[in-house]
Amino acid sequence: MRKDLRQAVIAGNWKMNKTRPEAKALIEELKPIAKDKTCGVVICVPFTNLETALSLTEGTNIKVGAENCHFEKSGAYTGEISADMLAEMGVEYVILGHSERRQYFAETDETVNKRTKAALAAGLKPIVCVGELLWERECNITEEVIARQIKLDFYDISTDDLKKCIIAYEPVWAIGTGKTATAEQAQEVCKFIRDTLAKLYDKATADAVTIQYGGSMNEKNCAELLSKEDVDGGLIGGASLVAEKFGVLLEEASK
Ligand code: PGA
Repeated sequence: MRKDLRQAVIAGNWKMNKTRPEAKALIEELKPIAKDKTCGVVICVPFTNLETALSLTEGTNIKVGAENCHFEKSGAYTGEISADMLAEMGVEYVILGHSERRQYFAETDETVNKRTKAALAAGLKPIVCVGELLWERECNITEEVIARQIKLDFYDISTDDLKKCIIAYEPVWAIGTGKTATAEQAQEVCKFIRDTLAKLYDKATADAVTIQYGGSMNEKNCAELLSKEDVDGGLIGGASLVAEKFGVLLEEASK
């Protein structure tokens, strides 16, 4: 990757895992492993673990993120959490538009766009996920799907705000399945995302955006994926739940 232009960021996505004592144990293990790594280190944890994560990582290089936020500032939205609530706690990042949210919770590009704007307005750094379904890849429309998501998810978002975002390319067929995209496939789509941003914004802006790969990325396949020019780190599910494995990813992204 172009380390002169952008920082590699490894972000863990814990999903619906870890009670508070389990979270505490994992973070304590991670702290010495993450220390001195030059890549960005983020852990996105369930809402119930945010307070624990924030207090345990204070003064360390581990940044804390949430896994979603609502687009309204407040109001009658039972069960939801606003971007302002997260920002007030000291949360820095938030994952938005993850395929599991799109698939199981009726998330659409329109709501991803609204959530991204709300997160940015609150001062959070969104990690916006895009990716094609297996069926879409087989029908040879990956680029159409990704271009559509990028155009809609970032609709009416300024150049300055785009620079605060991370984009995670996560082919849906590779998430939690053990099927990783090849490094070439990951590079091809990450580059396509950058080219799309260059058309929508400008080349310098596109070159400055961190574009991660996600989908069964682990301690074994990360070296090859991270060696690609347009793959600036990863959004890591399963392998982020084991300190040793996450450590290998941090090591590799710091090279
Ligand atoms: P995985 O998840 O690494 O377990 O495939 C990645 C993600 O969903 O962000």
